[in-house]
Amino acid sequence: MLILGIETSCDDTGAAVVRDGREVLSNPVSSQIEIHRPFGGVVPEIASRAHVENLAPLVRMSLQEAGVSLTDLDAVAVTYGPGLAGCLLAGVSLAKSLAYSLHKPLIGVNHLEAHVYTSALDRSPEDAPPFPHLSLLVSGGHTSLYRIDSWMRLARLGGTRDDAAGEAFDKVAKALNLGYPGGPAIQKRADGFDGDWIEFPRPMLSQGLEFSFSGLKTAVINYLRENPIDDEQITRIAASFQRAAVDVLATKTLRAAEQFNLRSISLVGGVSANEALRRELTERARQAGCDVFIPDKKYSMDNGAMAAGLAYHYVHANRFADLTLNAAPGLR
Ligand code: KG4
Ligand code: ZN
Repeated sequence: MLILGIETSCDDTGAAVVRDGREVLSNPVSSQIEIHRPFGGVVPEIASRAHVENLAPLVRMSLQEAGVSLTDLDAVAVTYGPGLAGCLLAGVSLAKSLAYSLHKPLIGVNHLEAHVYTSALDRSPEDAPPFPHLSLLVSGGHTSLYRIDSWMRLARLGGTRDDAAGEAFDKVAKALNLGYPGGPAIQKRADGFDGDWIEFPRPMLSQGLEFSFSGLKTAVINYLRENPIDDEQITRIAASFQRAAVDVLATKTLRAAEQFNLRSISLVGGVSANEALRRELTERARQAGCDVFIPDKKYSMDNGAMAAGLAYHYVHANRFADLTLNAAPGLR
C-alpha cells in the first residue's frame, strides 16, 4: 500500500511516499530555517505562506523520487494537529484537494503519534519497538513520556509543566547569542567540553515524572547576569546547560521505565538529534537492561514519512477522515 504523507505543522514542509507503513520511498523536507533566522524564531504567518508556496512542488518532487504517480497512491495522509493553525491549514487543504480529485481515502494524522512512530520507520516489524514500550518525545513544542500500547494508543505518563526541552535549548542559545535554531548551536558549542562544569539546578529531578525546563533556563539567564562573560564562559555555560537538560531527561525516562516495568525505550522528536542525549540515554538504558530505539536523525525533525507511515495503521483501524477535516492546533 502506497501512502503520500504531508507534514506542515510548524516550520518544515514535508511530503513523503511510504510503502506499507515502513518502507520510505521518498521523504524530501523543505526547511524554513533561513527564512526565520533573522527573527530568532518561527514567525507563524511567514511559515504558513512558505508552506503554501513550497508544498505542491515538494509533493511533485516526492512522487518523482519515489518513482510513482498520483494515481498509484492508495491514500493521502496529512498532519492535522497539534501545530500552528495557519501552517496545518496549508497541508490539510492540499491533502483534501488531492484526495477529492483522485477519489482516494483521506487520513488525518496526529503529529505527536507520528513523532512516536518514527521509531518504526525503515525497520521490519520484528525490529521495531515491541508493545508496550516507553517513548520520550522531545521537541520544540513537547516534552512527554508515553507508554505506547499500540501506534494509536498512547498513555501520557509525565511531561513538562512549562517549557519544552527544545524551547529551553532555543531560549538559552538566544541568551548566549549562539543563533537559531538553538539546539544544534548549543550542541556544537558543548561538543568536546570536559572541563569545569557549572552545576545548574535540575528542577524536580527527584520528584515523579514531571519536568520543568523553565527553571533551568532561568538559572542560566541569572548566571549570565551575575557573572562576567567571555567566549570561554559561553562554551562552559552551553555545555553545562546541555548536561543538566540531558541528565533530567535521562533520569526521568529511566525512572518511568522502572516504575512501569517497560524494557524498551524509544527517543523521538527534534531534540532526539542531540548527540549527548542519544549517548546518555543509551548508556543508562544499557545499565538498566533496557533496549533503546533511536530513529535516524533525518526522522528526528518534522517530515512527511512519519505521517505516511503511521497512516498505514490508521487505514487498518478504519480511521479515515472526510472532506470536513480541519486543522486542530490544540490536538492532544
Ligand atoms: O520536532 P521538531 O523538528 O519540531 C517540533 O515539532 O517542535 O523539533 C525542533 C526542536 C527545536 O527546538 C530545536 O532546537 C531542537 O528540536 N533540536 C535540538 C537539536 N536539533 C534540533 N535540540 C538539541 N540538540 C540538537 N542537536
Ligand atoms: Zn514535531
